[in-house]
Amino acid sequence: MSQYTARAHTNIALLKYWGKTDTNLIIPTTTSISLTLNEFYTDTTVWFDEQLTADDITLNNVSLQGRGYEKVTRFMDLVRDRANQHQFVHVHSINHVPTAAGLASSASAFAALAGAASAAAGLSLEPADLSRLARRGSGSASRSIFGGFAQWDRGHDDQTSVAHALTETVDWPIQLLTLIVNDQPKKIDSRGGMQNARANSPFYQQWVDMANAQVPAMQAAINNHDLVALGTLAEANALQMHAQNMVANPPFTYLTDVSWLIIETVKALRATGIPVYATMDAGPNVKLISQPADTEKIMVALRKVLPEIQVTVATPGPGIQIVQGDRI
Ligand code: DP6
Repeated sequence: MSQYTARAHTNIALLKYWGKTDTNLIIPTTTSISLTLNEFYTDTTVWFDEQLTADDITLNNVSLQGRGYEKVTRFMDLVRDRANQHQFVHVHSINHVPTAAGLASSASAFAALAGAASAAAGLSLEPADLSRLARRGSGSASRSIFGGFAQWDRGHDDQTSVAHALTETVDWPIQLLTLIVNDQPKKIDSRGGMQNARANSPFYQQWVDMANAQVPAMQAAINNHDLVALGTLAEANALQMHAQNMVANPPFTYLTDVSWLIIETVKALRATGIPVYATMDAGPNVKLISQPADTEKIMVALRKVLPEIQVTVATPGPGIQIVQGDRI
């Protein structure tokens, strides 16, 4: 049986996915738009083995147990059914993303798994089909099949809920500064958090309507290479998403004092004419959409309030790569 390795990069949503209409198929309530990042990725190697009596799954060379193991096994069952291949499998993943810290490690993880597992099972899937498959593991993974800017159309069923590339090659200056506020695993995962918001926020339907209505403006900002329009909309969308959590009953939030301090610092930087915008996912980390020429000025301002802050610079990254044989 052939061994395949896939490398998929994570992505940051500029317009967020925050809720499902179908939790089994993972059909979202909103269309989302993302930027794939070069810095953070997962390498996953898969091979079927008739000698195995159970799936062998490792993450960063440690055997995976519990919920994580079940998620991967259930995902592998989808691939096995589709390929009519019923052997157990080795899945070895190395994550170059701080796991569960609001950096959507599940996006690169399930995109890489979809790529390597489908190839190892002998399925030869087009990018759109790979995106549909990755979506079943984790919604945001549907977008990580593609490089650059990608859009996941919410759709209404397995076929129509799929991502596509908007611009795979990004040839204008946009970057993401990732500020690590807290790299400990978050307490409420995104799956639970979005379910809470959908079930318990009185404004949830307004979020859905508003976020879906933002799609054309985000597409235009991308087409026009308009960092100001893109950043303004991305920051508004992120705050609107987090607002759903804060007004839920019971309320919850991923954001900490440090997150808010960064958001305020970003606002002050903008008041001095620097185009920099904050976006946050299911964790306290804040990501800053900005242009490379301003990195130094942004860092100086951040270090004034948070001298110890860790920063990674990420630029637009490529789509999934699959190779046969050894690991990438
Ligand atoms: C806040 O894709 O991790 O990062 O589909 O339940 O696995 P599941 O959720 P996941 O949610 C990501 C939520 C987000 C926004 C986004 O990436 O669009």
